Amino acid sequence: MKILDEEKDLLLDHEYDGIMELDNHMPKWWLWLFYFTIAWGFLYLVYYQFTGVGLTQEEQYEQQVAMAIEQYGLSPDGDNAATATAIDWNIETDDASIENGKNIYMGMGNLCFTCHGAAGEGLVGPNLTDSFWIHGCSPTELANSIAIGFPDKGMMPYGSGARISDEDMTDLISYIASLQGSEPANAKPVDQARATNCTIQ
Ligand code: HEC
Repeated sequence: MKILDEEKDLLLDHEYDGIMELDNHMPKWWLWLFYFTIAWGFLYLVYYQFTGVGLTQEEQYEQQVAMAIEQYGLSPDGDNAATATAIDWNIETDDASIENGKNIYMGMGNLCFTCHGAAGEGLVGPNLTDSFWIHGCSPTELANSIAIGFPDKGMMPYGSGARISDEDMTDLISYIASLQGSEPANAKPVDQARATNCTIQ
């Protein structure tokens, strides 16, 4: 065999306890791979450590939190109230606003109808057509209820957690206001212990 024939040329001139070593070189492809990892490691170091172009884990985390806040309209400490109370909400009465509000209410993005009923009569969530409200019925309180949600009761911020614009919020509360006194079938009874009488205006 070729390897055995060459053995005497490859033998290195040292020996320990009868063990000898052959001068076998690493294959070229293996060496190049090794050099490549060194070069890659160096680029990595420069990219992440020195230029600041690459984001560290901490920076990535902060970036994602910021994106979530933006997307879901949340504040870092979970207090959404600032979003809703900073605005002077009012109720629109024109058909276009109410139509848009209805589309949001009935849409798959925010899922209001799944818990409050297609006519606002109430299911899992309370009836939105009567004049009894648990969390207040001023436009700001309504916007607050919607923006913050009641996660422990199943309602995410904006119904499903999908943020809506301030303009859409106005249309949505306007739609709810338009449902007042509509007396839909199968209306959910008032939660007497918690709700108080209040008229949206
Ligand atoms: C997963 C179910 C669910 C969805 C979806 C949902 N809600 Fe609710 N909602 C509730 C529950 C339950 C409550 C009552 C919270 C409580 O008992 O304190 C509530 C409360 C409210 C209130 C306050 C009612 C009051 O009496 O003060 C408003 C307003 C409201 N929801 C509007 C909406 C709108 C608008 C949407 C869609 C953007 C929506 N909800 C989506 C379950 C839901």
